[in-house]
Amino acid sequence: MTTIVGLSGSLRRGSFNTALLRAAAPLMPADAVLQVHTLHAVPLYDGDIETGPGIPAGVVALKDAIVAADGLLLATPEYNNGIPGVFKNTIDWLSRPPDDAKRVFGNKPVGLIGASTGPFGTILSQAAWLPVLRTLGTRYWTGSRVLVSRAKQVFDAAGVLQDEKIKEQLQAFLAGFVSYVRVASHEPTMMSANATMPPVPRCSWSTNTPSRAATAGLI
Ligand SMILES: Cc1cc2nc3c(=O)[nH]c(=O)nc-3n(C[C@H](O)[C@H](O)[C@H](O)COP(=O)(O)O)c2cc1C
Repeated sequence: MTTIVGLSGSLRRGSFNTALLRAAAPLMPADAVLQVHTLHAVPLYDGDIETGPGIPAGVVALKDAIVAADGLLLATPEYNNGIPGVFKNTIDWLSRPPDDAKRVFGNKPVGLIGASTGPFGTILSQAAWLPVLRTLGTRYWTGSRVLVSRAKQVFDAAGVLQDEKIKEQLQAFLAGFVSYVRVASHEPTMMSANATMPPVPRCSWSTNTPSRAATAGLI
């Protein structure tokens, strides 16, 4: 059985992204299951909580669910052409502490889908996730896309997906993604989650890099 954790990036009760994952669950290929999770158990990231009481229970539970799963499917809304803060906040918590991030995300096959009420169906927020997924060392699947635009016309009042064309797209996406996940899980150990990941390069803007002015003795 192939298990995929589907994480909706919206807290809204009537979320189209949660509805999209709910619509995806029965469309999964044979011998594959989609577990739908939300962000409700994840507080705002606070470094003082991390160094004090520790990683919150809801974050630990979500991390363990992702580790136990074969793949991760993110259903992202789009806010102001970018990633919604609540969703990024959750991924940031899941990446803590840094020496545990590889266990959660390292080489994890990740797919992205999204629904928005606008005309472009989360294309910009999906693009904005790419540097994050790369930084975390995931294996991002690029085989196809699900970009649900004008979501109010696509789901009914109960959040049930009504558009047959999108259902077909979603089913094809899931088939491709699950095939990829299955191949990935049989790849040689060098591709396993325990493999050594290349070190994250130091960014030129990190604060421990002396500025040109400092190097020149100006400050
Ligand atoms: C702060 C904010 C910014 C938004 N920005 C965009 C946007 O840039 N593009 C877009 O298509 N929809 C945008 N929307 C509309 C969302 O697509 C819509 O609220 C959608 O229902 C959110 O996903 P959800 O139903 O899963 O909560 C925005 C909504 C909010 C609240």
